[in-house]
Amino acid sequence: MRISVIGCGYLGAVHAASMAELGHDVVGIDVDRKKVDALSEARTPFYEPGFQELLSRALASGRLRFSTDVADVAGAQLHFLCVGTPQKRGEYAADLRHVEDATESLIGVLGAGELVVGKSTVPVGTAARLAQLVADKVPGALLAWNPEFLREGFAVQDTLHPDRLVYGLPPGEDGDRARALLDEVYAPIVDRGTPQVVTDYATAEMVKTAANSFLATKISFINAMAELCEATGADVKLLADAIGYDDRIGRKFLNAGLGFGGGCLPKDIRAFMARAGELGADQALTFLREVDNINMRRRIRMVELAREVCDGSLLGKRVAVLGVAFKPDSDDIRDSPALNVAAQLQLQGAVVRVTDPAAIGNSRREWPQLDYADTAEEAAERADAVLVLTEWKQYRDLDPVAFGEVVARKRVLDGRNALDRDAWTAAGWAYRALGRRAG
Ligand code: UGA
Repeated sequence: MRISVIGCGYLGAVHAASMAELGHDVVGIDVDRKKVDALSEARTPFYEPGFQELLSRALASGRLRFSTDVADVAGAQLHFLCVGTPQKRGEYAADLRHVEDATESLIGVLGAGELVVGKSTVPVGTAARLAQLVADKVPGALLAWNPEFLREGFAVQDTLHPDRLVYGLPPGEDGDRARALLDEVYAPIVDRGTPQVVTDYATAEMVKTAANSFLATKISFINAMAELCEATGADVKLLADAIGYDDRIGRKFLNAGLGFGGGCLPKDIRAFMARAGELGADQALTFLREVDNINMRRRIRMVELAREVCDGSLLGKRVAVLGVAFKPDSDDIRDSPALNVAAQLQLQGAVVRVTDPAAIGNSRREWPQLDYADTAEEAAERADAVLVLTEWKQYRDLDPVAFGEVVARKRVLDGRNALDRDAWTAAGWAYRALGRRAG
């Protein structure tokens, strides 16, 4: 099929290359000339395992190209909307400017019989509004909502092997037509027996925000347990293991630590609360405010813990921060708990040296005042305390004996409960973690 992908950020770029991998003829459109140039030359604008290979393969096949001109979508039957929906400045609600601009510009070149497929995370009610706009301006064109559930770090795998396909469709024959086009574009995924949920616009939009809210709630639940563990001397890691054996609960997303960040979970739960308020159903989601609060408290607690281990004062203390991305295998620092803690430590007088295998460039642009190092050893040289804030494999695998040689004081704060406590304490380190007794 000939398809277009509007918006070539994280979601769109991976989606465009993945659709070419499935055999489609794809044009990716973005307003950012630099991004388009980079992608066209097989340079990836962000760090994502497997994406570089996928992009190079797709470009070499001749089935993928990028452009800044929306008129280049001409001839495509299906147009994926993959633009971002960030949090509005100073408000909880989502900023739909990019979705609206992209739809408007697409409408200018859209033909009858073509299908617009929304993938961006939007407040419930958006799809119905956009569908009306499309129908008014381009009779015979259709709109479907097909939320995306990819995780950063697993974006390629999640796009090519999703665990479900959700289609939000218009009623009646229009819906049948839209479904046939979606089944055709996803044919290899559908043929594999991937579960499909075929529904209306509102349900499809809500599936996405409900899923992210549930994940955020699960993380904050275990972090609330961590707070109680700190008050009682219990161990949150063992607690998570034990409750996780119950398959109704499950062990995934029960890792206590610094909590969630990134470009999705925090802004999605806030946008969901804002939308519920507009709909007069705000009481249904007041618990998400607590989920958000618990999450943000972990960052404050981490700074306190660092102060505690630095003998009650951060002033002039040399602190090494290992990991600044919001999660491992990513260079994304949007609402990164690790960067937030590093910045707070620095603002409170510590001399902070930060390292990360992928996110230093992004972090340096955002927080140039922090000191950056290329390796964990360099960051930790003569440090008074080492904080592991993103659980990259290379930090989990550090040899505590050799690493102990570079620091001034062997004090480690495990912000992600990712280190082997016994090995670190055996090597003479004072070990502290959120929700666990000191080792
Ligand atoms: C999240 C969802 O997991 C995806 O399904 C969704 O498609 C995506 O948002 C989106 O809306 O686009 P992502 O932001 O890539 O994906 O990251 P997650 O893997 O969900 O992790 C989010 C945060 O939670 C990270 O900061 C991570 O460190 C933290 N986390 C995760 C924990 O603190 N504990 C856990 O047990 C798991």
